[in-house]
Amino acid sequence: EDVELGGHGHFMAKEIAEQPETVARMLRGRLDTRFGTARLDGLNLSPRDLRAFRRVKILGCGSAYYVGELGALMIEELARIPAHAEAASEFRYRNPIIEPDTLYVAVSQSGETADTAFAVREIKRKGGQVVGLVNVVGSTIARECDGGIYLHAGPEIAVASTKALTHMGVGFALLALLLGRVRDLSVADGQRIIAGLERLPADIAQVLGQEDSISDIARELSAAESLFFIGRVRGFPVAREGAQKFKEISYRHAEAYQTSELKHGPLALIEPSRPTVAVIPADDLTSRNLAAAEQVMARGGRVVAVTHPSVDLGEVGARRIDVPRNETELDPILLMIPMQLLAYHAAVSLGLDIDKPRNLAKSVTVE
Ligand code: AGP
Repeated sequence: EDVELGGHGHFMAKEIAEQPETVARMLRGRLDTRFGTARLDGLNLSPRDLRAFRRVKILGCGSAYYVGELGALMIEELARIPAHAEAASEFRYRNPIIEPDTLYVAVSQSGETADTAFAVREIKRKGGQVVGLVNVVGSTIARECDGGIYLHAGPEIAVASTKALTHMGVGFALLALLLGRVRDLSVADGQRIIAGLERLPADIAQVLGQEDSISDIARELSAAESLFFIGRVRGFPVAREGAQKFKEISYRHAEAYQTSELKHGPLALIEPSRPTVAVIPADDLTSRNLAAAEQVMARGGRVVAVTHPSVDLGEVGARRIDVPRNETELDPILLMIPMQLLAYHAAVSLGLDIDKPRNLAKSVTVE
């Protein structure tokens, strides 16, 4: 195990650190700069097939579902097709309507999650087309889908998923790019996204370079029994994943909320002992997000902003973690990286079992 850890204290730390390299590997051969599109032959879908889809439905469980929510937003933004993510564990129990002009996407690191595999079978039984975003080559879900995009993140041992989720985000960006380029997305916009994808490994490395200061913040957060993670639109799946990661390995209660919904209830819970991690990207919603952070501070709450360098927190008085700016559509992939480090270092400071948290399995193969 010592050798496999490659000098890291835990598999989770190793898997976080590997991301610049694994993401670069995943992108190799998949970017077509000239035409500003993605090469995804494994999907087994022609441009004509891709153009025929009128909707996209994404299915996954846990963190894979949250990244699926991000994927749905990317597809809507780049391809302008209605896209929606749902927990596969719910989908399978509600006799879903399967439509021939919907592209179904199953997303899973292990490819063995029972609820997601069942959803794939149900879609196929009813005549739907389903592709997979799967990490483990030859796994059940990879085999049962009609085609797919392998994530090529390499083995992920820690129960708390990190690099595989980043790769899912990249996989959705590639799929969104391909769907966009057979529709209305211009070649210039396609090339802009490709340039952004090519910058991702260096941008991830830059976030990882701030590990010391992020671990100081994580240590402070670990003292809280309960935390909020808030984000809006493309920041919300980031907040959901941030809360999920934090609770999985630190055993602290962490609740994700849409920033826009704070005033509709949870503001009542704000107090100094319940800090808030706020996703505040530099985008068209920055001022609204800052106003919400101010509301939290005005009620005695402490705020940690996961943000971009150009965002002026002004009077907000929050601690900040800066993430390099990429392309707006891809920024959430990078905003998830500090969430991994916050959860990891909080759990380290609490002395917990990082790679094998209590009550959890790496892949949930039971129903
Ligand atoms: C992630 O940190 C979790 N351990 C969990 O939510 C996981 O993402 C989920 O069980 C889905 O697993 P899969 O990607 O292997 O299908």
